Order: sequence, then C-alpha cells, then structure tokens
Amino acid sequence: MALFKKKETTNVDFNDLPRHVAIIMDGNGRWAKKRGLPRTAGHAAGAETLRSIATYCKQIGLRYLTVYAFSTENWGRPAEEVGGIMGLLKKYLREAIDQADHNQVKFRFLGDLASLSPELRDLCLRTEEVTRLYEDCQINICLNYGGRDEILHAAQAFAADYAEGRATLDELTEQRMGRYLFTSGVPDPDLVIRPSGEVRISNFLLWQSAYAEFYFTDVLWPDFDRNELHRALAAYQKRSRRFGGV
Ligand code: FPP
Repeated sequence: MALFKKKETTNVDFNDLPRHVAIIMDGNGRWAKKRGLPRTAGHAAGAETLRSIATYCKQIGLRYLTVYAFSTENWGRPAEEVGGIMGLLKKYLREAIDQADHNQVKFRFLGDLASLSPELRDLCLRTEEVTRLYEDCQINICLNYGGRDEILHAAQAFAADYAEGRATLDELTEQRMGRYLFTSGVPDPDLVIRPSGEVRISNFLLWQSAYAEFYFTDVLWPDFDRNELHRALAAYQKRSRRFGGV
C-alpha cells in the first residue's frame, strides 16, 4: 500500500471573502520557548508573520484586517518584554510610514493611545495621517486595547454628550453606540481567528464580535502562514451565518 499523505483541499472562494478578518496573534512566547529563545524573539517572529499575512490579505483583496498587538492587560508583563514589543512597533511603524506609497494600505490604531510613549503615539498618528487616503485595504492595529475599556470610553463619551444636551437617552441606539467605539466606521468582524490552541476571546472586540464566526487553530502565531489563512477562510465559507434568525 502506498503511503500517501492525504492532500488537504482548502478551497477558498476568493470572490466571496469575509469583509473583515480579526486575529488574536497568540503563541509568540511558546514559539520562542520551544526554540530556547527569549520571548522577545517570539514577538519579532510574530511581527514578521503579521507583515507577510497583511501583505497577502491586501493581495487577495481582503478589505479589513484587525490584529491584537497589545492589550490593556499586557502592561503587566515584564518590563523587558513590554519594551521589546514597543520597540518592534516603532520599527514597523517607521517602515509603514516610509513604504506607505508602495504598500497602499490604510492603517488605523484602535485603543487608548494616551498612555503610550509620546514617540510611539506620534508614530501611530503619523502612520494614520500618511496612509489615510488608501481605501482598498485597511489594517487596524489594536494597541493598548481592551474591549471593556473601549465600552467604558464609549459610555463616558455618551454620558458627556447627554450631560451637555447633545443627546437624549432614546438616541442611544446600537448604531450610535458603535460611533463612540474605537472602531467607529469599521464594519464588525466576520471572522475572528485565534491561533495557539487557546479558546477564549481575551477582551478582544467584545461589542463588535457579537455575530462573528470564530476559528481556532493549534498553530502558534509565528508559524501561521497563508495556508493556515486559507484553512480559516475555507472553514468560514462553510459556515451558515444566521445572525439570530433561522
Ligand atoms: C501574544 O503572544 C502576543 C502579544 C501579546 C504581542 C503581539 C505582538 C506582535 C506580534 C509584535 C508587534 C506587532 C506589530 C504590529 C509590529 P504571547 O506572548 O501571549 O504568547 P504565549 O501565549 O505563547 O506566551
């Protein structure tokens, strides 16, 4: 008997892609540990994975990609690791600014940028500014982001509008609430991917993922490649989305 490895068929219909894919880039630390490397090396590998997945998403015509780069809880990690991630962000944002015209991708940062270092905050704002006119593909980077924090900010912003007489209580609809969120103007994610074998949402896009499809894989984020993305997209395309209907 011939020993053929069964070829996996991941048929993706590239004419029917989800509009918005969101990814929890998890598993960098374990990827590094398996290799006897410091955790920061895992984040560096994860950042390279993001670069290649983002490039591929643009190529296949995906409209929105949102990635979880740093959560409001991640400040609790060792200072060296936090510094390493911030350093990577600076490096990649400088590159995004330099190559804006070549990449033709719009960047947006979701989260509370106020507590970032002035240098990183300035890089975020400059990246948004120089890429604001590219409409084909938008990459949202969640940075100092927490879903609960986002909902609190929205509630406070609405309360301020109410207190100043700019809004009445019955004007607080789901649509209006959406306009107070960091994601204002961005459609809800259709597909949320979490690699690394963890099966939880970890405070990511809590409001926005109400009707998202979820895809989990054991692959660690630095090993996530276009074949893995194809698997996620193919799985998504087999789902029947009913949005609470029948
Ligand atoms: C989670 O893996 C990953 C993070 C908290 C950081 C993600 C950051 C990057 C991919 C690099 C910087 C991003 C950009 C936009 C250049 P983990 O550390 O929790 O992994 P573990 O669960 O295996 O420990």
